Amino acid sequence: MIKTFLLPGLLVIVSALSLLLNPLPAEAFSFAGQTLGGEPEIYQERSLHHPDGIGKFYMGREIAQVMGHQGANWLERFSRGIEEQPEAAIAALNLKPTSVVADIGAGTGYFSFRISPQLPQGKVWAVDVQPEMIDILNFLKSDNHADNVEPILGSITDPNLPAHSIDLALMVDAYHEFEYPREMMAGIFHALKPGGQVVLLEYRGENPLIPIKGLHKMSQKQVKKEMQAVGLRWQETKDLLPQQHMMFFQKPEDA
Ligand SMILES: C[S@@+](CC[C@H](N)C(=O)[O-])C[C@H]1O[C@@H](n2cnc3c(N)ncnc32)[C@H](O)[C@@H]1O
Repeated sequence: MIKTFLLPGLLVIVSALSLLLNPLPAEAFSFAGQTLGGEPEIYQERSLHHPDGIGKFYMGREIAQVMGHQGANWLERFSRGIEEQPEAAIAALNLKPTSVVADIGAGTGYFSFRISPQLPQGKVWAVDVQPEMIDILNFLKSDNHADNVEPILGSITDPNLPAHSIDLALMVDAYHEFEYPREMMAGIFHALKPGGQVVLLEYRGENPLIPIKGLHKMSQKQVKKEMQAVGLRWQETKDLLPQQHMMFFQKPEDA
């Protein structure tokens, strides 16, 4: 009889003590994107999600799966010149010979190596999270004699760039697959010089006829919302490319 009541009672006391000593993280109490304290969570996880996504949502958007390094050849495909018109996109960046550009999510450096000849006194930091992409970037750097391209291995939360060091951060077909977009953008913001720019090239999410997977496109409305969340100001969208938005944002001079 005593055993029947004593044992469960003891278990309750031990569990309560263990909770006091090892409190569960706030996420354990989350429900529909809110913690019990009322703080909105930055990200939400959902088990029911799109097969091309990672089941993690940011500001209403599901984050896309990362394009693996196995797709490196696809990034260098011949038809890309027609589909994405990189020369027109680069001309629209209005770079100076001294500009310091960070190509974030650089992949094989399709844009880095096309930009670098325009920066004889500047440089390109080519950032990627996949070591295999960094190997390819290093190989192409020596193959192209592109001494002003600096491959950087970033982490999924940090581009690993020095503070106040870049004039322009470029993201081509990359931002939508950042697993920690808020942290990445905070790192990029920190790396920008005051007045520096962020330029995103993303396939137009508003157009269902563009033959790119849904999670790999973005609408202007969504991009603006996510950039404004880190303190960037929208400047303009140049719709000169056949299928992509080219969106310009600025870090305020006084930030
Ligand atoms: C679709 S590829 C585009 C590559 C390149 N921008 C281009 O246009 O050819 C996206 C790249 O972003 C990289 N990436 C994903 N998340 C990243 C992150 N948090 N930081 C840096 N690179 C990231 C991937 O490893 C991949 O190489």
